[in-house]
Amino acid sequence: MRKELTFTSGGASSSSSYNSNQSLSIKAQQQHLPIYSCRLRFIQEARRLDTLLLMGETGSGKTTQIPQFLLSLGMKGMIAVTQPRRVAAITVAKRVAQEMQCKLGERVGFTVRFEDCTSPATKIKFVTDGTLLREAISDRLLKNYSAIILDEAHERTINTDVLFVLVKEAQRQRSFKNMAPLKIVVMSATMDIDHFSKYFGVKGMYVEGKTYPVKVMHAKERQTDYHNACLVTLFQIHMDAPANHDVLIFLTGQEEIDAMAQQIRSIAKNADRAAPNIRVFPLYSQLPQNKQLECFMAMPQNSRKVILATNIAETSITIPGIRYVIDSGFVKRRVYDANSGMDSLKVVRISQAQSWQRCGRAGRDSEGICYRTYTCAEMETFDEMPKPEILRSNIYSTVLQLMSLGVSCKTFDFLDKPSSESVDMAYKQLQLLGAIKSVNFPEMTETGRQMAKFPLDPKFSKLLITSQEFGCLEEMLSLVAVMSGENIFIVPTERREQASLAHGKFESKYGDHLTLLNVYLAFQKTEKIKLWCHDNFLNTRNLLYARDVRNQLKDICEKIGLKLESCGTNLDLVRKCLLSGLFNNIAELQRDTFYLTISSRQRAKIHPSSVLSGKSRPNLVIFTEIVATDRNFLKTVTVIDPEWIEEVVPNYPHLSRLRQNF
Ligand code: CDP
Ligand code: MG
Repeated sequence: MRKELTFTSGGASSSSSYNSNQSLSIKAQQQHLPIYSCRLRFIQEARRLDTLLLMGETGSGKTTQIPQFLLSLGMKGMIAVTQPRRVAAITVAKRVAQEMQCKLGERVGFTVRFEDCTSPATKIKFVTDGTLLREAISDRLLKNYSAIILDEAHERTINTDVLFVLVKEAQRQRSFKNMAPLKIVVMSATMDIDHFSKYFGVKGMYVEGKTYPVKVMHAKERQTDYHNACLVTLFQIHMDAPANHDVLIFLTGQEEIDAMAQQIRSIAKNADRAAPNIRVFPLYSQLPQNKQLECFMAMPQNSRKVILATNIAETSITIPGIRYVIDSGFVKRRVYDANSGMDSLKVVRISQAQSWQRCGRAGRDSEGICYRTYTCAEMETFDEMPKPEILRSNIYSTVLQLMSLGVSCKTFDFLDKPSSESVDMAYKQLQLLGAIKSVNFPEMTETGRQMAKFPLDPKFSKLLITSQEFGCLEEMLSLVAVMSGENIFIVPTERREQASLAHGKFESKYGDHLTLLNVYLAFQKTEKIKLWCHDNFLNTRNLLYARDVRNQLKDICEKIGLKLESCGTNLDLVRKCLLSGLFNNIAELQRDTFYLTISSRQRAKIHPSSVLSGKSRPNLVIFTEIVATDRNFLKTVTVIDPEWIEEVVPNYPHLSRLRQNF
């Protein structure tokens, strides 16, 4: 299976050189960063201008240093720094606290959804773009802040795109009202500068990129199996390269990464004794934080770090010591079918800009090589730039948030406007959820106003609100809280059977939602949490997180006057209630044992992690998510009764499609 892979040279990326700084003190490390040489220029410009645009290579020090430079201006309010990912917000806050020699949560802190680590002393606050967006909605002048740094602007998440508008408007209003000025700093990796520059009406500043040359090698022939191509390439490198030359492989997601980590470990076990030891580190956002940080640790002599990462390692996290990058050329993206309104996760080709970003990761502290498992000709067919999220995603959540501000999505001054079809589709979904009166007169209903109060996907907030009709808010709170966090089940590869036996105790024959609920109920009653989680192969951290989330959601429910009731043992009510928010995610069993999603007509199987997988297949199910890799899988699945649909969602548009079969 693993034949030799041949590559052709595709040239080198641009470069200049600087010293490796791993062994220096923190202060010296800071001063060695490329951004340090622009410090005075930046501070001068920041005094003079209210809006700045800063472009620089990943790793040049933008995220960690610019907030500290701004701090030296002595402004009164806080400095907010946005990050598209919560992991990045947390790890960077830790690093900056260390650099400023303070405890996390004091002068430097972070706030991400459901987690606040700040205090009255906090001056620099790292936040996710979603968190700042919610703050901007409740205080449109952003009075607590003197400066907002919109970081990773090139990622063009919907939340950052909306923030561009709100922050610009806050700046204008504050100057109009003679209030303290609001500084805006937009920071991005080197991509698509003109677009930002025109939009903000300012010229960009560049930080000289100080990286080493990276030699680019393309696969000579088209590869049909990128997993295999990555593996073969890794072991080709491993046989020749000196130890401590670390390898970073870009893959698409958790399952793939975990599977490949296993494969690499078992191949390495049987490999040539003379070769260095291999230590494999997975890196993806679902991984618990302490595990994520492991890949930053220094390695013993004669061993090689191999990091298997998603696009999280592209720009937002920098790992020192990487000499080789292997690029699969794929990424997992949330994609959206504008006809059905259905979101799914899909493995798709990266853009050319991402190819170059990935390649640059090999040249951070010495010369490196990037192996692309795709041919040069293939790369020419990739999009030049990644498409902004707002042009490829479901925007109903954003539309609802903007409506709660009294703003119409159609007239909002977006950097890239969503198509009017996509706005109309969002209206249609919001109408089905009962959040707006009609598509033609998109005015918010009372339910819509309540929904916008929750920091949740509207379909989840809807579940909490309709649980009133079914008397099951207690249950729905637990379920939504668990679904808002990361996976609570632990399945170690070497103890699969024991784990499945332990999980079996919580299993509901009606599917995963009630199973999750059973786990949470048992968890709530437990005193020795750590021990209990350990014995039951459950993730303590994620369950504690769910408990936190539940408390916060409960507070919001109480504020808006929802009644806290439990349906006791009548859990059919919970399943019925699920339909009120997840009606777009109904799937029906076909003769060939596949499921067909009703609204988007996709064929799929139940994911192997579901309690319903491998059992007698129910005719009709709802699911929380559809994941598309080489096949489609439904995740978190529950059996439903066809008669409930008409009862719970009488205006369900696909009722006729279903009736034909029942
Ligand atoms: O934002 P940008 O990519 O320009 O760079 P940065 O995130 O400010 O990182 C600058 C340097 O700080 C990195 O090259 C790392 O050496 C170091 N750093 C770190 O050691 N630990 C972190 N959590 C973040 C950054
Ligand atoms: Mg950064």
